[in-house]
Amino acid sequence: MQPIDRRTALTLGGLGLLSTAVGGGGLFWQRQPSALDALTGVALQEPEVLRSRAGSLDVRLEAASGSHEVAGRKATTLGYNGGLPGPTLRVRPGDTLRIELVNQLEQPTNLHVHGLHVSPEGNGDNVFVVVNPGDSFSYEYRLSEDHPPGVYWYHPHHHGMVADQVFGGLYGAIIVEDTDPVAVSRDRVLVVSDISLDASGRILTPSTMEQMRGREGSLVLVNGQASPVLQARPGERERWRVVNACSARYLSLRLEGQRVQLLGRDSGRLEESRDVEDVLLAPGNRADLVVTGRRGHSVLRAEPVDRGDMMGAMMGGGSSSSRSRGPVDLATFEVRGSPHAELPPLPRQDAPRDLRASEASRSRVLTFQMGMGGGMMGGGGSQGMMSFTIDGNTFDAGRVDQSVTVGAIEEWTVRNDSPMDHPFHLHVWPMQLIADNGESVETPTWLDVVNVPARGEVTVRIAFDDFGGRAVYHCHILDHEDRGMMGVVLAE
Ligand code: C2O
Ligand code: CU
Ligand code: CU
Repeated sequence: MQPIDRRTALTLGGLGLLSTAVGGGGLFWQRQPSALDALTGVALQEPEVLRSRAGSLDVRLEAASGSHEVAGRKATTLGYNGGLPGPTLRVRPGDTLRIELVNQLEQPTNLHVHGLHVSPEGNGDNVFVVVNPGDSFSYEYRLSEDHPPGVYWYHPHHHGMVADQVFGGLYGAIIVEDTDPVAVSRDRVLVVSDISLDASGRILTPSTMEQMRGREGSLVLVNGQASPVLQARPGERERWRVVNACSARYLSLRLEGQRVQLLGRDSGRLEESRDVEDVLLAPGNRADLVVTGRRGHSVLRAEPVDRGDMMGAMMGGGSSSSRSRGPVDLATFEVRGSPHAELPPLPRQDAPRDLRASEASRSRVLTFQMGMGGGMMGGGGSQGMMSFTIDGNTFDAGRVDQSVTVGAIEEWTVRNDSPMDHPFHLHVWPMQLIADNGESVETPTWLDVVNVPARGEVTVRIAFDDFGGRAVYHCHILDHEDRGMMGVVLAE
């Protein structure tokens, strides 16, 4: 297919003809980096930043549908406080974060602070709370003095509607500041999300098949923008806090021609920052990067990731999906001008805890499966055809799947019996990766989303410190979570 230039796209889009032209299931344009991006060279915009003061941050977040500029045209999406993404919340260890969530949507919602090590009970990070349309709810999250710094994020978690609401535009970043600041010229937040829009700029609901595979939007956005431009001078050092807020898309990020150092992923910190060529972020993962500018133009690119395929298993090949399988250009990094003075080397960070030094009091095996025939019996109707289970069960808010003791250290092996990868996410308690598909992981690596490869397994250790209460673990392909690939853990 020939790339369509922007003028043609807009004209055809305006006439409602482009869907025919691209034949992409009604998408108003296909992601064709070369043609559109050169023309949309707009500077990266940052979401509004709200900072804590004197130990607390009080925020009002209104979830509503509204009109936004997406990829240079008007679209009707969801958003917090009219933004796409919502405001960036910056807090410090020891702070109290209060969020009043106001639901102006036409459906129930709630809020989850992904990755924060805070209580899951009451008005804490409690995903069992339901905030009905027109209602509001006041959340309060208390961060401990030793809460790990890093990049976190917030998004809705109302079971059955998570994929639609996140895909629709409900997400925002949370930064927990370092106790020892890292000297940088600029600190940026890059929230990567994907979305599909129809000819009139409305969110396109993916087919049942695409949902079962995990929807991938035809537009991949950084802070709600398509292919924004980031500018720096040579030698400038920037902090990039990257959030993968896509519903199902894995991001294998590359920034050729530039120096990229990894400070950490999720709440996990590296004692010593490491030069990296690429960083893989499963849905929900974050990367804390330091980029040092080298003169020239570089493209922040997401290389295609093979996360297995449900279709192969179901029908012996073929795919009904219109998703592009090539790389996606997310942003351009332009480095020019007079060189910046050299900055001091990056500081060392605290050595991460290593749970291998402790005895695990219990080990468990959790098995992720996809099967035929799920949903039909449950009256799922259009949700039929495939079931998404953990240990043979779909999610039941009233059932406890794992009972753990507060203070215990456990070892969990998560097996994947299906032909697709599933990113395993546990709320509240971070996980130390012990073995990744049979290979033991030597450096202490802490994550809150761990990819479990198709037909493979991972082993993690978890310290159930500090908090009691009911929380969940699930596949972070949000369509899978909504279809029941989620369980309840009760700590007491
Ligand atoms: Cu980011 Cu339970 O989710
Ligand atoms: Cu989470
Ligand atoms: Cu999954």
